[in-house]
Amino acid sequence: MKENTITYNNGIINVPDNPVLLYIEGDGIGPDIWRGAREVMDRAVETAYSGSRKVIWKEILAGGKAKDATGEWLPEESLNQIEKYKIAIKGPLTTPVGGGMRSINVALRQRFRLHSCIRPVRYFKGVPSPVKWPEHVDMVIFRENMEDLYSGIEWKAGSPEAEKVLAFLNGEMGQSIAADSGIGVKPISARNTKNLMRNAVRYAINHNRKSVTIMHKGNIMKYTEGAFRDWCYEAAKDEFPENTITEKELKEKYNRIQPEGKVVIKDRIADALFQEIIIHPLNYDVIAAPNLNGDYISDALAALVGGLGIAPGANIGDNHAIFEATHGTAPDIAGEDIANPGSLILSGEMMLRYLGWDKAADLIIEAFEKTISEGKVTLDLSSQMERVSSLKSSEFGRAVAENIKA
Ligand code: NAI
Repeated sequence: MKENTITYNNGIINVPDNPVLLYIEGDGIGPDIWRGAREVMDRAVETAYSGSRKVIWKEILAGGKAKDATGEWLPEESLNQIEKYKIAIKGPLTTPVGGGMRSINVALRQRFRLHSCIRPVRYFKGVPSPVKWPEHVDMVIFRENMEDLYSGIEWKAGSPEAEKVLAFLNGEMGQSIAADSGIGVKPISARNTKNLMRNAVRYAINHNRKSVTIMHKGNIMKYTEGAFRDWCYEAAKDEFPENTITEKELKEKYNRIQPEGKVVIKDRIADALFQEIIIHPLNYDVIAAPNLNGDYISDALAALVGGLGIAPGANIGDNHAIFEATHGTAPDIAGEDIANPGSLILSGEMMLRYLGWDKAADLIIEAFEKTISEGKVTLDLSSQMERVSSLKSSEFGRAVAENIKA
């Protein structure tokens, strides 16, 4: 079969029928969940298109597998492949806490300018939940993916660099920071914020979503998170004036009745939003968040509808995209064939939809829902349910694949 390359033309993706898609197996539970995800994606594509479309999978190395094979955590060759083929799906990669190398995930997001992390959180019938109405949870998080405290600009306490920065801040800028402090920098730019908000609002308009909530801690961090809030409002007003109204306008001009075809733009302070998504999930729909807030709220929201084992995600830029689960390498269960491949199966579903292969994506959602409603689940879900035994990772992947029917 002829290998074909995906291209972008002015932001529009062009997908051949036999595209090369790259995959990184990942560390920890990565190999366990990748097997199931690949089987499900292949079955869905085959069933939807009867052979007229087929993925050509190509492995690239990153993380522990790359280190063992090449001595590098993230070999240049893998980066070249992503540059060429544009789209990849990956398992989780280990990042040591404290010292050690920088996060490979963050490096990939920065290298390919994957500015928006998109994480849908929805309820699948039959999934266990700690809340009364989990079916009310249907949100999509748009998390800024390159800046904020994740930018990797930080200096160890006592290092010459930290001392230099402290001398500047305490000397020239009139601060009084303790001499034994580690220092981190939190940059948030208008450009990245507006890119993110543009994607979030466009998504809300195209998918008939009711609102976009800007999540921030701008009352305390005025020129970073406060500015994030202001730039998000500006982007919505300047770029989508016909399709958006603010929450204030909803009250004052529309007597709280949402007009047809208008997305409401509102903002909430981060800590308050954590309570709100639990108590009033119906009031929240698309959420636009800076990097760190987006990270935290992703796991909290996932917990309302089954947990990290079924939480998918996508990192989207203008010319590349990398799909990956919300969770990490789960070292506590790695290699035991008990992890839930659902997170990567659903990330694969997002990837196929991104390619415009909606029919295959729809088949995955149907089969996934059917499998769970049959009580076929892995340990992370069965342990929250009564009288349900658990399937291995591989068995769950197979069960979903077998439920894919034309
Ligand atoms: P984690 O997300 O790996 O695990 C948290 C908890 O969720 C664990 O109890 C784990 O068993 C469970 N869990 C996660 N995925 C699951 C699945 N598919 N099925 C069943 N249970 C699942 O978070 P942790 O332990 O804080 O991080 C471990 C490593 O992963 C760290 O090195 C961290 O830096 C890295 N990490 C990598 C990410 C990525 O590659 N995108 C994202 C988050 C963390």
